[in-house]
Amino acid sequence: MIKYVLNGNIIEQEETTTILESASIQGIKIPTLCNNEHLTPFGGCRLCLVDVATEKNPDMKKLMPSCTAKIGEGLIIDTHSPKVIQSRRFILAMLISRSPKAEELRSIAKEIGLPEESSKQTAAEKYLFNDAPSIVNTNCILCGLCVRACAEIPMRDAISFSARGMERTVKTPFEKYAETCIGCGSCAYVCPTNTITIEEVV
Ligand code: SF4
Ligand code: FES
Repeated sequence: MIKYVLNGNIIEQEETTTILESASIQGIKIPTLCNNEHLTPFGGCRLCLVDVATEKNPDMKKLMPSCTAKIGEGLIIDTHSPKVIQSRRFILAMLISRSPKAEELRSIAKEIGLPEESSKQTAAEKYLFNDAPSIVNTNCILCGLCVRACAEIPMRDAISFSARGMERTVKTPFEKYAETCIGCGSCAYVCPTNTITIEEVV
């Protein structure tokens, strides 16, 4: 067991626990998007960022994804600091700019207080909501849920990430019909943006 501070309270927990799990045990909800309890944590969307400092350097705070970062002896963790809330809003606005119609993203926006009215948005949020979609709207937010679901549930690896940076996308091998796909639909089921849909071919 280790001791650390979570939102001002001293917590004792097993050291293998992630910050997200430990916060959840304490009844603290951290928003997540690319996390799924049945799949390996990936830390891709960064929505679950929290502020982490140490007892030795309490002012040296670092933003870390709580779904992959583990708790540690003497850590001081803040799940809802102003910096965390601002970062989450910005990250979600970026994700919405890629997938403006995704209902799951809109519902998280309400949860974390990211307003849809431009009068209440920051300049960066306004840009991402209004101007960026025409440039970056791809619908896929690269959360990796489909890739992990395919690899870890039916264990088929029929899709994977391809390329880097702006070119990064999810594809079948060589963009051809994936021979290993069994049509289980796991990828479509977990996709938060409905980028993957199932079509029945008879
Ligand atoms: S297709 Fe869907 S599940 Fe796959 S990475 Fe894109 S948004 Fe995530
Ligand atoms: S939920 Fe933690 S990085 Fe996506």
